[in-house]
Amino acid sequence: MHNNRLAVFFSLALAGAIATTPVMAQEPATAGDPARGQVLSDTCMGCHGIPGYRNAYPSYRVPKLGGQTADYIVLALQGYRNQTRPHKTMHAQAVSLSDQDMQDIAAFFVSEGAIQKASATVGTAPEKAATCVACHGEGGVSVAANWPSLAGQHKDYLVHALNEYKGGLRKDPVMGSMAAPLTAQDIQELATYFASQSGLFSVHYAVGPKTARNTATAE
Ligand code: HEC
Ligand code: HEC
Repeated sequence: MHNNRLAVFFSLALAGAIATTPVMAQEPATAGDPARGQVLSDTCMGCHGIPGYRNAYPSYRVPKLGGQTADYIVLALQGYRNQTRPHKTMHAQAVSLSDQDMQDIAAFFVSEGAIQKASATVGTAPEKAATCVACHGEGGVSVAANWPSLAGQHKDYLVHALNEYKGGLRKDPVMGSMAAPLTAQDIQELATYFASQSGLFSVHYAVGPKTARNTATAE
């Protein structure tokens, strides 16, 4: 249950004992229990389990979570809980979740299937995407568990997210500085490019075999 905290405690204790170089406590990528996560994710499916479901206002599609990186799901949920991401509904969802709950939820979404990466990217990458792929990966398929994949995410959600970093509504120092110089046209082009790639998918909420749930949607 508290393995992570113990791990953090031990690496801190170790760092203290050695007292030379600081040791970074690294969270294991799959620390969660997917079965418990599935139970906790039941209410999430009312929005995230319906392909193309729209947020009432402002109107953009609810992000796809299928194929998303594990640590990023936890980071995003912590952001909604701490309100470094301003979204009332997601704050209400995340506020009662412990870090362990979040790990379990992430493990459940990861257990729904890996990102469906195509052999080649679609379209020509806008010039500005060169910086982005250093972290978000070629065509937006992330290579690190704490960086989100962008490939196949809904275009309107990507636009919304970039505008929130740019406007300082989402408080993330890295993405804040990445989004600051982007024009409205850059944001459109980048979102179009990453949304056009095959990748993330909606996790379907249905009783039955897992394979029946994983269907990529076009947008
Ligand atoms: C009422 C609809 C609704 C419900 C229920 C809901 N979500 Fe969300 N979720 C959203 C919307 C809308 C966003 C985008 C919020 C924003 O603009 O930042 C979102 C964003 C997210 C993100 C960030 C994804 C990304 O790519 O940035 C994660 C992770 C997430 N939700 C997980 C969950 C989990 C886990 C639950 C259940 C405990 C849940 N959501 C329940 C609507 C919902
Ligand atoms: C140094 C690494 C790095 C670079 C470079 C970078 N990002 Fe990010 N990006 C991140 C991290 C970390 C997050 C998650 C931040 C958070 O917790 O909200 C993120 C989040 C995002 C999101 C939100 C995804 C979601 O599901 O909510 C979008 C969209 C995005 N980045 C687009 C871009 C674009 C476009 C560029 C290039 C102009 C870029 N990023 C460059 C690390 C990076």
